[in-house]
Amino acid sequence: MKTVVITGATRGLGLATALQAVTEGYRVIAVGRNLSNELDQAIKQKPELLSFEQFDLSNVEKIHEFATYISKKYGRLWGLVNNAALGTDGVLATLHEKDIGQLIRVNVEAPILLSKYLLRPMLMNRAGRIINISSIIATTGFSGLSVYGATKAAMSGFTRSLSREVGKAGITVNTIAPGYMETDMTSGLQGEKLESIKRRSPLGHLAKAEDVAHAVTYLLSDKASNITGSTITVDAGSTA
Ligand SMILES: NC(=O)c1ccc[n+]([C@@H]2O[C@H](COP(=O)([O-])OP(=O)(O)OC[C@H]3O[C@@H](n4cnc5c(N)ncnc54)[C@H](OP(=O)(O)O)[C@@H]3O)[C@@H](O)[C@H]2O)c1
Repeated sequence: MKTVVITGATRGLGLATALQAVTEGYRVIAVGRNLSNELDQAIKQKPELLSFEQFDLSNVEKIHEFATYISKKYGRLWGLVNNAALGTDGVLATLHEKDIGQLIRVNVEAPILLSKYLLRPMLMNRAGRIINISSIIATTGFSGLSVYGATKAAMSGFTRSLSREVGKAGITVNTIAPGYMETDMTSGLQGEKLESIKRRSPLGHLAKAEDVAHAVTYLLSDKASNITGSTITVDAGSTA
């Protein structure tokens, strides 16, 4: 059985991905700060395939210890999905330094360190998958999301160089760039602003977290063994 770690799997895209991965037969370790009801219910139904590990990824100095604990408890991993992120918005001129630091820590430093330490068992296996969740904002830009956009662009740069480093060991590294999805992260965007985002899509609607999760589980699968260093955009055509 293949084991995958999915960060930020208590809600939103991470939860949708965890549920799909379990349906496809992976053993999933869902990481987050607070166990949600939905994740708790799903664990009760499939305790042999789904577990929750509480960890606050802003504690970057504890990531090495956390990764060692995960490897000891669950054995060698097949995959890591770096999905957890903060979506703090605000114009740069007034954004607090504390919020800027926190965005960079959770969205960039944490996935890099987690990849560094969880790659080791994959290198020993000479096989594995790393999937970094970025955003279309990394390339389109969005007023009020300059720091968030910088962190998401960092993920695709990280993916490309890391894919070159670990490819010979049979490990693929890819990015998924979702468009706007209706999750807790975007609950502040409503009304006309939301309608205008929907209108920009050639399909006239938005991609759902489940649609993006399908792209993640595809990249986890053997079918995607010759895709690395790539970005898959799932945005219902918004950036076409
Ligand atoms: N929603 C969108 O429109 C959209 C568009 C493009 C890209 N994305 C990207 O898609 C990914 C998922 O977004 P989402 O919309 O599903 O977000 P969400 O609904 O806000 O969920 C975020 C997840 O990350 C976890 N998380 C946040 N801070 C954490 C921390 N310090 N330590 C551990 N876990 C933490 C949360 O769990 P806890 O609260 O339990 O810690 C939660 O499970 C993110 O990378 C986001 O940038 C989202």
